[in-house]
Amino acid sequence: MRRLGLNEIREEYLEFFESKGHLRLKSYPLIPNNDKSLLLINAGMAPLKDYFTGVKKMSKNRATSSQKCIRTADIDNVGKTQRHGTFFEMLGNFSFGDYFKREAITWAWEFLTEKLEMDKNLLSVTVYEEDDEAYDIWRNEVGLSAEKIQRLGKEDNFWELEVGPCGPCSEIMYDRGEKYTNPDDRFMEIWNLVFTQFNKMEDGRYEKLQNPNIDTGMGLERTNCILQGKTSVYLTEVFTPIIEKIEELSGYKYGTDGEKDKSV
Ligand code: SER
Repeated sequence: MRRLGLNEIREEYLEFFESKGHLRLKSYPLIPNNDKSLLLINAGMAPLKDYFTGVKKMSKNRATSSQKCIRTADIDNVGKTQRHGTFFEMLGNFSFGDYFKREAITWAWEFLTEKLEMDKNLLSVTVYEEDDEAYDIWRNEVGLSAEKIQRLGKEDNFWELEVGPCGPCSEIMYDRGEKYTNPDDRFMEIWNLVFTQFNKMEDGRYEKLQNPNIDTGMGLERTNCILQGKTSVYLTEVFTPIIEKIEELSGYKYGTDGEKDKSV
């Protein structure tokens, strides 16, 4: 595995998807523009909803970005788990009615195993229980063994916001080893591939989108944490200067008291 820094991972990701014909986008601001359903941008796809529904068009029908995100719903997990941030960047590649599951899955695998050189044996995936197509691509084209592919229900493998483009998804996990007793910390989710097929309406109905889309989201800080072999995202390079400053201001040494660590 390559021990890349955060800026190197971001650049390699964007370059990789540019080489696959994607338009590189800048991160949108955290405050949504013209979207009353969201307080803050919480995913790479959130500022792109109009492109998924076809209301707007870009110069290309595939794009890639590293989007600044805040997930208010996750804030209570910050400090309790080893992988949640108040603020993070989400790497993503998007297809607006262009490519679909096959490319999204095989490119994700290529990036992780050939570019980042992750050990294939430590990667496993989940798919939506009814999604035989995604299962078959992982099983027969990527060549994952059956025990590395888990089928889960709507709660885990169907991605949606309050309203807007949504669909079944496939998550990729990296096994950090038995020393992590919490399964979510051991099998750290790094990438979510969403096969956007529906538009969820305000009344809760799912309308089939004319062209299916792809929306993927990979955690930049989590990937950095795995590549650098750190136990938590808070011990990676972007957080350590902040923690050091808090130590200096508070006189408290991070890592000496679990409860106080959460506050830091
Ligand atoms: N929208 C999906 C997520 O946030 C994938 O980008 O997980």
